[in-house]
Amino acid sequence: MQGIQDIKDQQLIKHFSYINGSWHSSETEFEVTNPANGNVVAKVSNAGIAETELAVKSAKSVLKMWSAKSANERAGLMRNWFNLMMQHQDDLGRILTLEQGKPLAEAKGEIAYGAAFIEWFSEEGKRVYGDTIPGPSGDKRIIVIKQPVGVVASITPWNFPNAMIARKAAAALAAGCTFVVRPATQTPLSALAMAELAERAGIPAGVFNVVTGDDARGMGKVLTQHPDIAKFTFTGSTGVGQSLIAQCATTVKKVSMELGGNAPFIVFDDADIDAAVQGAIVSKYRNAGQTCVCTNRIFVQESVLEHFTEKFTAAVAELSIGDGLSEGTTIGPMISKTALDDVNKLVTESVAAGATITLGGDNHPAGENFYQPTIMTNVTNDMPIAANEIFGPVSPIISFTDESDVLAMANDCEYGLASYFYSRDIGRIWRVAEGLEYGMVGINEGIISNAAAPFGGMKQSGNGREGSKYGLDDYLEIKYLCMGGLDK
Ligand code: SIN
Repeated sequence: MQGIQDIKDQQLIKHFSYINGSWHSSETEFEVTNPANGNVVAKVSNAGIAETELAVKSAKSVLKMWSAKSANERAGLMRNWFNLMMQHQDDLGRILTLEQGKPLAEAKGEIAYGAAFIEWFSEEGKRVYGDTIPGPSGDKRIIVIKQPVGVVASITPWNFPNAMIARKAAAALAAGCTFVVRPATQTPLSALAMAELAERAGIPAGVFNVVTGDDARGMGKVLTQHPDIAKFTFTGSTGVGQSLIAQCATTVKKVSMELGGNAPFIVFDDADIDAAVQGAIVSKYRNAGQTCVCTNRIFVQESVLEHFTEKFTAAVAELSIGDGLSEGTTIGPMISKTALDDVNKLVTESVAAGATITLGGDNHPAGENFYQPTIMTNVTNDMPIAANEIFGPVSPIISFTDESDVLAMANDCEYGLASYFYSRDIGRIWRVAEGLEYGMVGINEGIISNAAAPFGGMKQSGNGREGSKYGLDDYLEIKYLCMGGLDK
């Protein structure tokens, strides 16, 4: 059986928190398990409040030094980090699969995705432009400069153990901020491997810190309330995000939040059905349905309902479930039995409400965390499987009659992260793209995430944007200089 012993560069396997450039042990440890088989992958030091405070202190102590470096200098170090991540893509991908479960090809894709943020922001950091603005009177000039916000703290999720850290840290470091992250306890090894490579890249001690520990409440309190932290950034559920925002309010921190979603995927009668099927597969079953941008509800126009459902069912039936390290696997396990039970509950309740299971609908024999890729029909927008974020490999299909009908249903939820639709009518494309109350719209496209694009949501899906030039703004303060006394 493949395991941690097969990682070529064993120095990438770290067991301690990374604080101020040193590997920091704690009194106790916690276990990291492989969701595919329950095996213990590694034991990692269980840091708590004291270590988190130490990490903040070290990030604060080097803030001036790091922000005073030229953008070029920072870019050079970040470029080294990017290169090292790509050089170790295979090892990093394997570590990620071992602790998270996603298929190796997808895990390696995540490493490239994460590294791309480091590359992108290393370049974009050179373009932090200011402004000059005509003053209201002849003796004054208005000048705008942008400066790093300061120490940034973050809490990151288990579904993208590398890329969600990279997306935040890269923007922060490029802007001249220093960074502390508490990664999810399910997936600390990917974060620690990133720290090892940051050190090899020459990123100075204290600039990038990783604290691993299971005291979510205590560590979260430090990261949201410590007066030396200027900004807090989180990716995770809306419920947790709401309480973290409230905690940040006590010291009026800047926050950016990437929270839950309930993505509609709309197939109009003029769509290329084969393309829509492919788009639905990639946007729904990526990471076994465990992403915030995964398709959550598939709306299909009545006249193409049968045609789409038939083709989609055939394509889903082809997906291959198993251990992410086994050749040919396209769907790995869910992160835990609890996560699987939550999905199963939504399915069962929706069947009781009148939905039909057309494919799957139960546990998979590959192991206790595996759920069959599932399709449900006769679903209505108010059923539990449509009204909640599924975070699992289930596709509810809902039929609709016309554009206004589907827009009303798609927008009828508190979330506003990703949305998708397929149509070839240019007028409809504009109308629907503008009508969807979502931060991101995939038009004839099921994969929308990349470093150059502004990732983020409306409504209760969060605030701020990650990636792109807009993502850098979230880590910068705008300072206005008023220059007076210019009269002769
Ligand atoms: C997420 O699920 O939180 C992020 C997904 C992505 O970056 O594509």
